[in-house]
Amino acid sequence: CERINMNQFRFGTGISSYQVEGDRSGRDSCIWDDFCLVKGNIKDKTDGNVAIDFYHRYKEDLQCAKELGIQDFRFSISWPRVIKDDGSVNEEGLDFYSDLVDEIIKDGMNPVITIFHWDLPSVLMKKGGFTNRSIITDFIHYVEVLSKKLSPRVKDWITFNEPQCFIGIGYQKRGQAPKIDCDYITMAKAAHNVLLCHSHAYQILKKDNPNCTVSFVNTFNVPLPYGRKKENMEKELSDILFTVPNTKEEFYTLSIYSDPLYLGSYPEKYLKKTGISEIIEDGDMDLIRKSKPDYLCLNIYTGTYYRNNKEGKTVIYEKKTESEKTDLPWLLRREKSIYYGCKYLYNRYKAPIIITENGGCYHDRLLKDKTVHDKERCQYLRKYLHEVKQCIKEEIDIRGYYYWSLFDNFEWEWGESKRFGLVYIDYKDHLKRYKKDSFFAYQRIIKKSRS
Ligand code: NOJ
Repeated sequence: CERINMNQFRFGTGISSYQVEGDRSGRDSCIWDDFCLVKGNIKDKTDGNVAIDFYHRYKEDLQCAKELGIQDFRFSISWPRVIKDDGSVNEEGLDFYSDLVDEIIKDGMNPVITIFHWDLPSVLMKKGGFTNRSIITDFIHYVEVLSKKLSPRVKDWITFNEPQCFIGIGYQKRGQAPKIDCDYITMAKAAHNVLLCHSHAYQILKKDNPNCTVSFVNTFNVPLPYGRKKENMEKELSDILFTVPNTKEEFYTLSIYSDPLYLGSYPEKYLKKTGISEIIEDGDMDLIRKSKPDYLCLNIYTGTYYRNNKEGKTVIYEKKTESEKTDLPWLLRREKSIYYGCKYLYNRYKAPIIITENGGCYHDRLLKDKTVHDKERCQYLRKYLHEVKQCIKEEIDIRGYYYWSLFDNFEWEWGESKRFGLVYIDYKDHLKRYKKDSFFAYQRIIKKSRS
């Protein structure tokens, strides 16, 4: 098999503040604290108050990342740990991130920071969260504080993680915070304000360090061809991916965020809808155009199969096999989603790709001898990475892959019971950490690829 030179390729892992940090008393409240307080919101009744206590154990945890051999360490910053409810800076919180960055660099890794990974300060939610344009002023203040403290040590920034979830799910009263019910136009406003916040952040970070990269993470469910003559279906499936559905479902899809960011304008069909053009103020689109993200950051997990029926129409193929199932109903192991997802996106936007998230959720068992034989996760990892290689062979410009997640952690509405980690967390015994087989599998892959 042909060997691909992956010496420049960046392997990494991801975590996010609310999901791992704990130390609830060291920061003000966020919308996920509020969400967890409501009975029935979190399936196993856990919350992020202690999480995996990364806040106090980060040095030890970074040793583990170092041992894994990754180049990029992706983490996020908790907005309410840095900015207090009254708008002043929480120096202790800020120092924590500064020390964390120093430590990552000292351990020979590169910090990749996500500025917003869902934990919005509760005070800002009281003002309407992203639906209120005044959030831009608050976000600018937050980013200026971060940039002043961490630039130029931090070279790679991501402004937002998955608006498809925090807007698309959170603002239409589905299973995630803030679980409010917005009408169509209000959601469109929220989406637009996210893009403006990104653009302002981009300008601030580049002014402070012109050599840094500033990106934005999107996620999507990939339409996959099923059956024979797959090539014939690619164009149509790519159109399905980028076509704007005519409902609030749209805020869960890709192009209303990614078209303005990477092509400079909203999809035409979207713009034609009543009320949308009024949201856009003079200068907004120019600012967005000047703030094109450096990378196409993609969180790719799964896809939906389509097939041609007898009438020659393309329809969803619902069947799932046992081997595709994981421990989460929405997550089927469909590694081709990497191949087609990267291909469709690269063809449309022509920007270098980083797969900022991809990972498998399985029910792990910690054995008496403290080992975890997560065979399925090892297989998941190998299969998805094989598709990354295939893309690179076909000259799709993928620069990095970050496994989600380094540790088991608080999986949002599912709580602690769903595990994605390469490292097992024993919630019943002082949050002790145990490397799973998948940790060693990823370690070997990284070593081999870069030798
Ligand atoms: C998406 C999110 O960014 C992350 O926070 C979450 O834990 C994983 N995917 C798995 O669902």
